[in-house]
Amino acid sequence: MSDVPLIHPAAEGDEGEYRAGRAGHGHIKSYVRRAGRMSDAQHRYFAEMMPKIGIPYQPSNIDLAAVYGRNAPKILEIGCGMGETTAKIAEANPQNDYFGLEVHVPGVGALCKLAAEKGLANLRIGNHDAVEVVRDMLPEHSLDGAHVFFPDPWHKTRHNKRRLIQSPFVALLASRLKPGGYFHCATDWENYALQMLDVLGREPSLHNSVADPTPQALAAALAADSTEGLAGFAPRPDYRPLTKFENRGIRLGHGVWDVIFTKK
Ligand SMILES: C[S@@+](CC[C@H](N)C(=O)[O-])C[C@H]1O[C@@H](n2cnc3c(N)ncnc32)[C@H](O)[C@@H]1O
Repeated sequence: MSDVPLIHPAAEGDEGEYRAGRAGHGHIKSYVRRAGRMSDAQHRYFAEMMPKIGIPYQPSNIDLAAVYGRNAPKILEIGCGMGETTAKIAEANPQNDYFGLEVHVPGVGALCKLAAEKGLANLRIGNHDAVEVVRDMLPEHSLDGAHVFFPDPWHKTRHNKRRLIQSPFVALLASRLKPGGYFHCATDWENYALQMLDVLGREPSLHNSVADPTPQALAAALAADSTEGLAGFAPRPDYRPLTKFENRGIRLGHGVWDVIFTKK
């Protein structure tokens, strides 16, 4: 197990609902367990597919080549939501293996359904907190890429600490990337885009895949809480499909920011 620190430990007086974690491993969760009703189809596909393509949580490293039965590039996708993007990417890139993580059970059911319908042989799914999976199950230098697409923005200032993209987790995830591997985040929340650029830019084992902003420009952007004119964001690569919701946002004139860094 790694001794890389977890996301900041929950402080005394914090809202109790976020503090539950595995005994002795408490860290602020980047999600709240939602009751969310599961459709019959999601139920059925979850039950049928998870024994085949689910990777249960275990508190020790797994051998990814053995899991997929081949030595193909391994890409982690954190927070698959309802799985549309994950399934599209896995289908379009049969040369890569994908490991999708999602805590929301109906979302896992939906992704299981897509995996069955599309016959995705290169997808495995974990229904567990990504912080613990990355920390406990993924060996150092085991990933060729990691995606964090539209993580929950936790937009109220007092909830910003729930955001997944924070220095301790970025350091942990970066340690799991192979040299040359990539870390790709995307968000439609401007303040989170700035946080992503700032936090990834401060991780010494990563470098920006596009031109870095100057420290002065980044400081000014953070102070103004605005990305306007700021360098450092990447164009959306073709492998990240536009989501329905993103298309709608773009039509309404909302921004989407991609932040792509490479492991040194
Ligand atoms: C806003 S949704 C985005 C879903 C999807 N990536 C997309 O682009 O549509 C964020 C998802 O991340 C999941 N999530 C949040 N924290 C997580 C964690 N620590 N481990 C696994 N999944 C997490 C949430 O349950 C939610 O489904």
